[in-house]
Amino acid sequence: MNEANGTQQRRHTEKRHFDTLAVHGGELRAGAKVPGEKGRGGDFYPMSTPIHASTTFSHSDAETADRVLGGEEPGFGYARWGNPTVVALEGALTELECPSGNGRALAVSSGMSAIHAALTAAELTSGSTVLVAEQVYGSTITLLLQVFAPMDVQVRFFDATDLGDLEKKVISLGPRAVVVETISNPLLRVADIPAMARITEAHGAALIVDNTFGTPYLQRPLEFGADIVVHSATKYIAGHGDLTAGVVAAAAPYDAALEQIRKTVGYVMDPFGAWLTLRGLKTLPLRMSRQCENARKVAGVLLEHPAVAAVNHPSLAGHPDGEITARVLSDTGGLVSFELSDGARGTAFRFLNALELCVRAPSLGDIYTIATHPATASHRELPPSRREKLGVTEGLIRLSTGIEHHADITGDLTRALDAL
Ligand SMILES: Cc1ncc(COP(=O)(O)O)c(C=O)c1O
Repeated sequence: MNEANGTQQRRHTEKRHFDTLAVHGGELRAGAKVPGEKGRGGDFYPMSTPIHASTTFSHSDAETADRVLGGEEPGFGYARWGNPTVVALEGALTELECPSGNGRALAVSSGMSAIHAALTAAELTSGSTVLVAEQVYGSTITLLLQVFAPMDVQVRFFDATDLGDLEKKVISLGPRAVVVETISNPLLRVADIPAMARITEAHGAALIVDNTFGTPYLQRPLEFGADIVVHSATKYIAGHGDLTAGVVAAAAPYDAALEQIRKTVGYVMDPFGAWLTLRGLKTLPLRMSRQCENARKVAGVLLEHPAVAAVNHPSLAGHPDGEITARVLSDTGGLVSFELSDGARGTAFRFLNALELCVRAPSLGDIYTIATHPATASHRELPPSRREKLGVTEGLIRLSTGIEHHADITGDLTRALDAL
């Protein structure tokens, strides 16, 4: 094996598994061209992609710089256009989200900037309509209403649990884009992305899927016909609650548009955040597997507790989307929500205050188990009537299970419930 000329990289052509791609994806191994490293000599390469903390890249001569800046030769010029650490992360994300070569992933500075880029790439211009699931993350709706609606974009809503409603509105409104999440927050309904993609494709709308709750471990929406996939990488993808990041993935023609928008608007990921995300990504399959298993166990224990009136988790018998879940997700997810029997806000707060292990915080997807009160956190900005329509009651708690031992999580929850 001659590592120096790259045979190690090219020898294996068989399709690798998700877990393997997560570990090795994007890393600059032997034979990979590492711009800027040329000329440093030695037959070695770093096992871990370095943090290239540089905004600008110099070249050996003006002609090379001209070719690189003109896109005739691969390389880096200015970090808003590309940075080696960020590009390494994008390589890994592309392998995970688009393993059959059906697109590429770009890293951006937050989940919200990923959504903004996707909506812009879908050409939501004056007079166009966007159809958005009423169950999506509150800030996505705020972005549409406060940034796109004033530019004369018509924002309309549909029920993501009702394909008939989607089809009817796609036909009557002719939207340019449809926005939906893989798994809804906080009631954890599972969207039928393949069926939605058939509807949007038949009527010329772009389907944008926020796959934050799913991650490519549970589902790769591009394979089901979605046009653009977005993530808040702040959550499961990075996984450790220590950075803010976003991902947007698509095939042509959207990928080039997304790259141009990112470069021009400037919501790029910083190299340190990219390095942490790349490091986090390596354990995504391990974390997700454990988080899904913990969520199933937590859901089972909650179901038996007298202080709990109802539990939402796709693994439970009687979940309204059992058939869809089996078809579109590889596992049942790491989020659980439940309704306290006494549905008062004060009781929900007493329960949250009694937790000793689970962290009270308005986020999800971390290695720590996180407990949230959606009515005063993710859905705080909505008027009470809208919260009620979405089933976000005062007694509803959302849990994002971490990777701790399941008995410690259920022990903490049971103790806090017993104390009510
Ligand atoms: C489903 C979903 N999408 C997007 C976002 C926004 O992500 P960020 O906070 O990284 O901008 C969030 C944040 O909670 C989210 O839950």
